[in-house]
Amino acid sequence: MTKLSVNINKVATIRNARGGNTPDLLQVARDCELYGADGITVHPRPDERHIRRADVPALRAVVRSEFNIEGYPSKEFLDLVLKAKPNQVTLVPDKPGQLTSDNGWDTVTHQEFLKDVLDDLRGAGIRSSIFINADSRMAEYAAKAGADRVELYTGPYAEAYTRNREAAIEPFLETARRVRQLGIGLNAGHDLSLVNLRYFVETIPWVDEVSIGHALICDALYMGLEKTIAAYKDCLKK
Ligand code: PXP
Repeated sequence: MTKLSVNINKVATIRNARGGNTPDLLQVARDCELYGADGITVHPRPDERHIRRADVPALRAVVRSEFNIEGYPSKEFLDLVLKAKPNQVTLVPDKPGQLTSDNGWDTVTHQEFLKDVLDDLRGAGIRSSIFINADSRMAEYAAKAGADRVELYTGPYAEAYTRNREAAIEPFLETARRVRQLGIGLNAGHDLSLVNLRYFVETIPWVDEVSIGHALICDALYMGLEKTIAAYKDCLKK
């Protein structure tokens, strides 16, 4: 079954709005697990606008499921993750001030850089994933650089879904087939929601993990975290 990793960046955004510790990020992580999440994802950004550097070791100490840290592999980021040793690190090509990840890596141009970073992660026993667009060539070069998995950037899928879901998923299906041939793992994330998730995993059932933040936390405002996580898990049932 495809695993659900809950991205809790938004929870940290709300906490930071008032400077105190409400909502308590660690308690939310524990509760997500209690309600069925298979993993917790965070994206510590250089400006600490949501997840702070200090949240990472604190979460490492409480997360019992799969802990995934995503981010641009700057020296500071790599120092942080090599110390925390999460189960997985997802490399994204974001610039420091970026609002959210909106593109995958050019794994051809950045092949040597990625290779070095992936070597460091492998040496620390951390599974790696590279965020890419739905593009088989990018998947091939991610595998060539030594990535354990790729994460498909599903923003364009979500955007096109309501117009024509068969056309929306086509490039993702093609890339996912190539990923399977390459023998590496497959993750997906960005703008996945209760509207578009079920069709994605029905069409590409070999997706190992989806990481979902924005829509899930928004749904939780109406349904509560427990029912929301159950609803997302239901979409992942094969
Ligand atoms: N995957 C990556 C690499 C991301 O940067 C994000 C956003 O932090 C997500 C998945 C989750 O996207 P969303 O918040 O739209 O569910």
